Amino acid sequence: MNATQEQLKEQVEQALVAAFGADFAGVDPILVPASNPKFGDYQANVALSLSKKLGKQPRAIAGAIVEKLNVSEICEPPEIAGPGFINLKLKTAYLEAQLNAIQADPRLGVPAAKTPKREIVDFSSPNIAKEMHVGHLRSTIIGDAIARILEFQGHDVLRLNHVGDWGTQFGMLIAYLREVYPDALTTANALDIGDLVSFYRKAKQRFDADEAFQETARQEVVRLQAGAEDTLHAWKLLCEQSRREFQVIYELLDIKLTERGESFYNPLLSGVVEDLDKSGLLVENQGAKCVFLEGFTNREGEPLPLIVQKSDGGYNYATTDLASLRYRIQQDQAKRIIYVTDAGQGNHFAQFFQVARKAGWIPDDVELVHIPFGLVLGEDGKKFKTRSGDTVRLRDLLDEAVSRSHADLKTRLQEEERQETEEFINEVARVVGISAVKYADLSQNRTSNYIFSYDKMLDLKGNTAPYMLYVYARIQGISRKGDINFKELGNNAVLLQHETELALAKYLLQLDEVISSVEQDLLPNRLCEYLYELSKKFNQFYDRNQGVQVLEAEEPQRTSRLVLCDLTARTLKLGLSLLGIQVLERM
Ligand code: ARG
Repeated sequence: MNATQEQLKEQVEQALVAAFGADFAGVDPILVPASNPKFGDYQANVALSLSKKLGKQPRAIAGAIVEKLNVSEICEPPEIAGPGFINLKLKTAYLEAQLNAIQADPRLGVPAAKTPKREIVDFSSPNIAKEMHVGHLRSTIIGDAIARILEFQGHDVLRLNHVGDWGTQFGMLIAYLREVYPDALTTANALDIGDLVSFYRKAKQRFDADEAFQETARQEVVRLQAGAEDTLHAWKLLCEQSRREFQVIYELLDIKLTERGESFYNPLLSGVVEDLDKSGLLVENQGAKCVFLEGFTNREGEPLPLIVQKSDGGYNYATTDLASLRYRIQQDQAKRIIYVTDAGQGNHFAQFFQVARKAGWIPDDVELVHIPFGLVLGEDGKKFKTRSGDTVRLRDLLDEAVSRSHADLKTRLQEEERQETEEFINEVARVVGISAVKYADLSQNRTSNYIFSYDKMLDLKGNTAPYMLYVYARIQGISRKGDINFKELGNNAVLLQHETELALAKYLLQLDEVISSVEQDLLPNRLCEYLYELSKKFNQFYDRNQGVQVLEAEEPQRTSRLVLCDLTARTLKLGLSLLGIQVLERM
């Protein structure tokens, strides 16, 4: 709900009380956006719902409300339509004043949160010695956008990279490398992640086939956990190799993250198990320590346990998440903790959230949210793979997007007979390619699977990053062509006459509503949709046939329209920046 809608809602609430008495305080006026713009901008539907209670015709009720309704500053005289809807149409002068006000506001009318909160976004979180895959890419892009939006709202956001840097896999890997490539454990940079991944695969094969090796690997884990110097050193080197590779991706994507991996919580794991025991939740089941869950059953319909300590004494993913959860509440003072992972981990989160609640670790003012997302599919609708059937390396994927956008740009420049420097071409190709990948991901409802298609995401038409970047650059083109400095346009210049001007103006004023909805529901695709609609509305406004002239218009229309151009561009720039997308002045 935006500020205008809130104000109107309040007015209708007051009118209700004025018409029918104090008993009607707190009745929801059911104020919603109009179903058809022909009837206005908003409608209050409360009269219909009160008919029974008041024993009156809804039209009569609506009439009594309207009589007491004081909205003349904002709206044209309210009209009663159909069975008893109250239609409200915003006054043009009101819209003009609102736009004049946001013209001077760098936040474009979006208020910062009234009560800033400490929020944690746990995202990206790849695993050491394994390749970062497309699932991590989704987590990275979605988590970053959410963090940016919360930061913009003024929240105190901690962006945490919960990397998988601990556990039995290291025993296996270190034991294997000791045999085949001991240098890797003592020398920095001896391996790149490609090698590391293939060593990891071989170590796993060995582990599955060879019992003696299993024992060696286990001893290596024990040594690691006991802090044996050589093993610890080897582990650190392996982590650094991976980290360097991850960093390349983060830099390409312009992502900032604080790494706090699973190993960080290692000293806290035994405490988790002890405290669960003290609270009486712990049960021994075939040697493993676990907590039985409500609402989760196995195939036989028996209650399912969440294991927190395996029979060999080792801890697992869930134990670490319980420990990190407590740490984030107690030490980080988080009030909302947001986890961004694939939907496949839904049960894991529901389960350890439940255990933490049962143990009484979650204060009432702390909110835990798992943000699930769907799979990335290839154009054939199957799991996203390279042509040869391998998993796609993220770096290759991003490089490919950039090189395709490079090729598209070259073709377009040729068609338009434009000469540009190599530097310009590379920069545009990079921004368009990376933006396209991000936007394609963010513009889907995150819970659905999404089909990865270079052709679609790089298309200059449709709901894509290039389309919106193009609209932005087109507006900057207007300022270049007319030699206009948008920053120096006069204030109080907005004058709305044409239908396309009004439509654009009303849309520009909805940014605050969209951002606050994303802040709550954590669905960045809403912001994408808004920016896409805004771009379309702008193109209608600027359309030679349906729209208006801008540079060629007479004053005072000319300045007013230039302000609308500027506001559109600034809204696009701000909105895209919250999605982690950079704009281009020319493309
Ligand atoms: N490392 C995990 C994976 O690759 C994701 C971790 C998500 N965060 C968490 N606190 N469990 O699937």
